[in-house]
Amino acid sequence: MSRYSAITGWGKYVPEGRLTNADLERMVETSDEWITTRTGIKERRIARPDESASTLCIAAAREALERAEIEGSDLGLIIVATVSQDYKFPSTANLVQHAVGAQCGAFDMQAACSGFIYALSVAHQFITTGAIKHALVIGCEVLSRVMDYTDRGTCVLFGDGAGAVVLSASDEPGGLLGFTLGSDGAKPELLYIPAGGSKEPLTEEGLREGKQWVHMQGGEVFKFATRIMGTAMEEALANAGMSSDEMDLFIPHQANLRIIESASKRLGVPTEKVFVNIERYGNTSAAAVPIALCEAVEQGRVLQGQHIGMVAFGAGLTWAAAVVKWTAPVVSGPTTTTSTKEPASAAVQW
Ligand code: ACO
Repeated sequence: MSRYSAITGWGKYVPEGRLTNADLERMVETSDEWITTRTGIKERRIARPDESASTLCIAAAREALERAEIEGSDLGLIIVATVSQDYKFPSTANLVQHAVGAQCGAFDMQAACSGFIYALSVAHQFITTGAIKHALVIGCEVLSRVMDYTDRGTCVLFGDGAGAVVLSASDEPGGLLGFTLGSDGAKPELLYIPAGGSKEPLTEEGLREGKQWVHMQGGEVFKFATRIMGTAMEEALANAGMSSDEMDLFIPHQANLRIIESASKRLGVPTEKVFVNIERYGNTSAAAVPIALCEAVEQGRVLQGQHIGMVAFGAGLTWAAAVVKWTAPVVSGPTTTTSTKEPASAAVQW
């Protein structure tokens, strides 16, 4: 039985289509200046009509498997964290399992933007109990499909993408050292899709009222996020027996630059240790942390033996944080997979 679960492979996929602040200025009453100063976002990626959560996941998964130097058939478990799955059922993880040639259990789980860290902690249990040797953990969203592109309070924030890791059994001290998960379901309406579930099936009237889209009380979510990000990261660090000054790199959920700055300040993490790519992707929900992790590795910002803190918050409300000691040899340089066909902003229904 292995005592440790280490990240041995990583990969990401972002659609090629870009939706810039200038594009949004033509769609809703907003400005590049407002979006940049209030959120830090400059552009987001939007999936083509022929892309979906599973195609994004599969591209990221193939890259992660290649990096881990294993085959799909070596996997013991696949977990996809998403709220924008291909179908209500079957799960997107089922589709990934078939595509990568795995013969193992596969399921989706959702904790909104916190989903990837939730999934990582679940895979860690399977590995450290000795049940499996390798797990594929993916965070993926195609939020452009559930966005109301007439609502300036939400549509400027979100984008599409996927990030994946292979988590493997290891006897070498390292990997996932500590984590924390949290939930407060008292006010689901702070951030939700009102209709389409068993509580309120989607009707023609619901469609007219826009109940199929993401609804958010941004100010309330903002207050919650600034409070929880620092606390959650501190909890995960404490569970790993560490303090914030021992983090070599801090990867916060990429929801809003002001939230990232507030959390970093509270934790006393200097700017040069904070990873930010929100300006290029916006908030990709469950995909944000794994995409950022992949980019940090590609940019040579993660070295063998270093400690990475990751924290996320999201609808639910949920939150999650994890501390990982990076044990894989790192070869920096871009590994980005992007689609090569036509730009996809045309895919967005506005
Ligand atoms: N362009 C121009 N003006 C805007 C826009 C926009 N895109 N959006 C809102 N405004 C206006 C508002 O209408 C308001 O106008 P008013 O004063 O005339 O009423 C004004 O700007 C200020 O609005 P606030 O909501 O107070 O702006 P705030 O500074 O809070 O920023 C934002 C809004 C960016 C949404 C912020 O609250 C936020 O980031 N919240 C967190 C959201 C988040 O992270 N959600 C994801 C959670 S993770 C997940 O699970 C998906």
